[in-house]
Amino acid sequence: TRRQNVPKGLRSPPGPHGLPVLGSALELRKDTHLVLTEMSRKYGDVMEVTIGSRPVVVLSGLETIKQALVRQAEDFMGRPDLYSFRHVTDGQSLTFSTDTGEMWKARRKLAQNALKNFSIAASPTASSSCLLEEHVTNEASYLVTKFLQLMEEKQSFDPYRYTVVSVANVICAICFGKRYDHEDQELLNVVNVVDEFVNVTAVGNLADFIPLLQYLPSRNMDLFLDFNKRLMKLLQAAVDEHYKTYDKNSIRDVTDSLIEQCMEKKAEGSGALQIPNEKIINLVNDIFGAGFDTVTTALSWSLMYLVTYPHIQKKIQAELDQTIGRERRPRLSDRSMLPYTEAFILEMFRHSSFIPFTIPHSTTRDTVLNGYYIPKDRCVFINQWQVNHDEKLWKDPQTFNPERFLNAEGTELNKVDAEKVMTFGLGKRRCIGENIARWEVFLFLSTLLQQLEFSIRDGEKADMTPIYGLTMKHKRCEHFQVKKRFSTKSSN
Ligand code: HEM
Repeated sequence: TRRQNVPKGLRSPPGPHGLPVLGSALELRKDTHLVLTEMSRKYGDVMEVTIGSRPVVVLSGLETIKQALVRQAEDFMGRPDLYSFRHVTDGQSLTFSTDTGEMWKARRKLAQNALKNFSIAASPTASSSCLLEEHVTNEASYLVTKFLQLMEEKQSFDPYRYTVVSVANVICAICFGKRYDHEDQELLNVVNVVDEFVNVTAVGNLADFIPLLQYLPSRNMDLFLDFNKRLMKLLQAAVDEHYKTYDKNSIRDVTDSLIEQCMEKKAEGSGALQIPNEKIINLVNDIFGAGFDTVTTALSWSLMYLVTYPHIQKKIQAELDQTIGRERRPRLSDRSMLPYTEAFILEMFRHSSFIPFTIPHSTTRDTVLNGYYIPKDRCVFINQWQVNHDEKLWKDPQTFNPERFLNAEGTELNKVDAEKVMTFGLGKRRCIGENIARWEVFLFLSTLLQQLEFSIRDGEKADMTPIYGLTMKHKRCEHFQVKKRFSTKSSN
């Protein structure tokens, strides 16, 4: 049926035939990114697979993806109507809802501005160059202390559990001006069950494509719904608190600045576009939700690579010693002087490709890509993993090698190669937290590595096998150890 209604002279994208009713569902159940990458070798950059009874276009190849998301941005900026997405923020999420109109544009801009003002914009109140730097420096120093304490008490530990709270605290500070205690149950009950979220929102999750599955009891789905409820409750409490203490002369954080938007809008009277207040305030859900799991996962993969490749860890530490020394803490302004550290972070993003696909897109109108006809409302997967492992772009793509991003002397980063790494999407749906995320990963890592040497307990190994999901995690590893690199008397 899918080959019907194709305008004369155009073709539908090629792809496997698949089974009746199931389509290619069975093949896609596991490691969807690898299966679709393999299929793209046969069918090309624009291919069509059927999942259940729903056709999906899968895009591979950096140039093809740029053509779609950048040059034909309007055509490909939509989000599909998926069962799991309807449950995120009551179906009103900026990130997951199907809205792409003026309302979505205005909300995205509000979120971007609020976010910027309380993170990387120069701050008159912060003792550091910006609030983000202040928050991350505090949290990273806390982690250093915590890890050393865990070593004394238990001789090894799982860093994920502590990293996730620290990263959540950074986004909490930006959104709500507060940080949670590392033992706060309400926060732990949210951040520690995020695995259920990334499992159900995984790109190609069969329940999104085979309606029958939506009626069957599913433990994963129950846990997912429960996660959404808990997150909403946690955030709602913080928002209520802000309304109570709001003072227009002292805008404290992202939530205040969103409340301010609601108030200003009222004062102006009926503008052309009225965004309901709750759709302004609940932007904080999108920011918080996107802001803690992704960065935690990035840091967690980084630690896994560092203990797997100790010589790489040593090189980063040598660079930190040489450029920053041991007397003061790293700052955001050091980043451009630390090319090897930067190359490591890029290689971590590339090699892990822990966001293997962007969030699914959908076409907003009938369009043509590379000569293939794609009708309106077609669900589109963007295969970032394929781009990051494409032999046409990368020499030995399976090898973890930060040096691929550096010149022969190791003194300069190759910007052209750096831009080929696809991690944050492209075009109109590109991640709005990209700068924050990159700065955060840099500052957490450099602060930790300046002071600590990470390793794995003798006889144990870090299992690097990714677990497929919207963001891919590794198995938790309880065998991390740290050693203090030098005794400190330093302060900032
Ligand atoms: C969307 C990656 C951190 C906020 C996205 C997308 C990707 C991504 C791949 C989807 C792009 C698409 O659909 O084409 C990442 C990675 C991060 C990160 C790898 C960390 C390493 C953050 C942070 C925030 C954030 C810290 C906020 C503070 C968002 C939002 C969207 C988004 C709001 C939805 C944009 C939209 O649908 O218009 N991100 N992100 N992200 N990200 Fe991030």
